[in-house]
Amino acid sequence: MMLPYGSLKPVEWNQPVTFSPPHSSRPRATAERQSFLSGIMDGGRFLRQWAGNPLGIGAIVPSSPHLAEAMAGFIDPDRDGPVVELGPGTGVVTKAILNQGVAADRLTSIEYCEDFARLLRTRFKDVSIVRGDAYDLAASLGQQPPLAAVVSSLPLFTSPPAKRRALIIDALDRLAPGAPFIQFSYALVAPVKEERGLFTVSTSGWIWNNMPPARVWIYRKSVSPLAKEPA
Ligand SMILES: C[S@@+](CC[C@H](N)C(=O)[O-])C[C@H]1O[C@@H](n2cnc3c(N)ncnc32)[C@H](O)[C@@H]1O
Repeated sequence: MMLPYGSLKPVEWNQPVTFSPPHSSRPRATAERQSFLSGIMDGGRFLRQWAGNPLGIGAIVPSSPHLAEAMAGFIDPDRDGPVVELGPGTGVVTKAILNQGVAADRLTSIEYCEDFARLLRTRFKDVSIVRGDAYDLAASLGQQPPLAAVVSSLPLFTSPPAKRRALIIDALDRLAPGAPFIQFSYALVAPVKEERGLFTVSTSGWIWNNMPPARVWIYRKSVSPLAKEPA
């Protein structure tokens, strides 16, 4: 007799025999098709926003999930404190931050573009989406306990060097000791150079699976010699 296909578990003689239904590939195919379509629609949204404000948007397509995952990989989800995202766009990095294990109610994402902010509110109901200027953290974020991470997709190179530096100093002041300011860029050099005694910069390798290839830069506050344990 032909048995129905699916997994057949060995059973004791007096146990009921159960058959698991074969795995259907239909739900996965539907999810893949939906995610493909939503990727295409996000590409269209991005291009439209870029056409209206190329310097503010800073990219013609959203980051790839590979880049987003590489950025989120620098967050330690077990470190206490809120996580702040700057320039979430259509939310690819937001999603990666949540996948990294950061609870949605710990995350605040600051987005300047009103259309993107509206879209993000429908996509991430438990994330606090602030429509504001990420360069003005005092106004957009207000007072918060020490942050566990800041994850930025801002197009820093389209802003003057002094403004970029001021943002990084302000963000590092709001971060818990050792916590990272995470930034991506397509450039060969760091968006803000390391300043010995003030903050360090390190970088990931190139993430080729992104258009264009990008790197992740990690800024951390230097440990003040005064704050070190006495020898
Ligand atoms: C390069 S896109 C990155 C979007 C998305 N995180 C991604 O990786 O696909 C930069 C984003 O930063 C936003 N942005 C630019 N300047 C901003 C500012 N001053 N405050 C908040 N968001 C800003 C843009 O609207 C855009 O959504």
